[in-house]
Amino acid sequence: MDTIRYMTLVLLIFIYVVFTTKADHANFENDEVWQKRAKEANTAARLAYQPNPMSVTDNLNNRVHRSVDGSNNTRRDLKNNIFGACMATNPIDQCWRCQKNWDKNRKKLADCVLGFGRKTTGGKAGKIYVVTDPSDNDLVNPKKGTLRHALIQSEPLWIIFAHDMSIRLAEELIMTSNKTIDGRGAQVHIANGAGLTLQYISNVIIHNIRVHDIKKGNGGLIRDSLNHYGQRTQSDGDGISIFGSTNIWIDHVSMSKCDDGLIDIVEASTAITISNSHFAQHNEVMLFGASDSYKKDQIMQITLAFNHFGKGLKQRMPRVRYGFVHVVNNLYTRWEMYAIGGSHGPTILSQGNDFTAPNNPFAKEVTKRDYATESVWKNWVWKSEGDVMRNGAFFKQSGNPRHKFASDSMIKPKPGKFASRLAKFSGPLKCIKNKEC
Ligand SMILES: *[C@@H]1O[C@H](CO)[C@@H](O)[C@H](O)[C@H]1NC(C)=O
Ligand SMILES: *[C@@H]1O[C@H](CO)[C@@H](O)[C@H](O)[C@H]1NC(C)=O
Repeated sequence: MDTIRYMTLVLLIFIYVVFTTKADHANFENDEVWQKRAKEANTAARLAYQPNPMSVTDNLNNRVHRSVDGSNNTRRDLKNNIFGACMATNPIDQCWRCQKNWDKNRKKLADCVLGFGRKTTGGKAGKIYVVTDPSDNDLVNPKKGTLRHALIQSEPLWIIFAHDMSIRLAEELIMTSNKTIDGRGAQVHIANGAGLTLQYISNVIIHNIRVHDIKKGNGGLIRDSLNHYGQRTQSDGDGISIFGSTNIWIDHVSMSKCDDGLIDIVEASTAITISNSHFAQHNEVMLFGASDSYKKDQIMQITLAFNHFGKGLKQRMPRVRYGFVHVVNNLYTRWEMYAIGGSHGPTILSQGNDFTAPNNPFAKEVTKRDYATESVWKNWVWKSEGDVMRNGAFFKQSGNPRHKFASDSMIKPKPGKFASRLAKFSGPLKCIKNKEC
């Protein structure tokens, strides 16, 4: 009898231990590690928020003027190109692209970001990590040399690739802070598996890679740092999911055909620039703010510059709730439904873009407002300045026509007729060692 009772007790303790240990990882809301990260992310977002966003938009416009009209004249660069010289058509690219030693001086890139993500340095303070292995077979103890192993390290890292590779992520890749993914010198695809997740982190550069055909994940145990792993629920199938994260720069990336969004930015993320990137073949392109009740998204400040919104895109370039988005000098070549949308009073400053509407007579409007009557949305500040409108495109502005943004001396954007030139090299670049990129 005693033995049986003793055995029962041991069994009960065993069951208790197994289940409570599992429960610790069962839900990230209840997980202390994630709670701590959420708090830190909140502080980082408050520190990164710019109370005078016009200082950032003015600075960018100023730099574009100087790069097109100044000593770094684009026309001169275009002419030089006939003789094989480097052609960089916007101030971000001019900062690094025309240097033959880009491969030995990769971290120079970190000095080049403009817009709200301007303080992003990624892995600049760290070592170079070379990804040699495209596999993704162990989500809890990833193999050395894989992208997942690189991205869970605690220290800053500048991550590069030994050769061309296509990485199929078995589940979402949960990144850590202070990292650069630098695909220059190789053709790097993240494709046909799960996507990248930036959750409660800061300071990340994603550069010169291709992200496409991203699928929903099943969830399961996934390591998210050297000292923690946990149970994750299904991932949505976003290409890049930015959740409560700050100081992010996405540059020269191409994205298409994901199960959910190409880029989602939610849960009070801020200080983000998406530049020189190419988007195609997708329905819901970019969602900035996913919840009507989540007012904390007012902290969102995002720059979209020199991107090409290309073939086969339907809507959400972007779709915004609450935040502030500077959409500047992008090229939009036809959408199916609309280009820029939103709800819950976001501020949209559209400057110097080149919009070509589709032939469908019912889809000529660039803009779309959701869940609000005109009496409500007429107060939302949506401004178009210097945009080029082709094939019947039109941008319905709102907000007080005399609305003054914080600074009176607002710098005019470079007009939309320059957008195709500024965005000419969107998407990944083919960079060869010892040659201008
Ligand atoms: C021209 O480009 C160089 C190199 O990127 C940069 O350092 C310089 O500030 C630019 N000049 C102007 C006038 O913008
Ligand atoms: C990232 O780097 C900064 C500056 O070096 C450091 O203060 C911060 O703690 C790092 N973040 C993490 C999460 O390691």
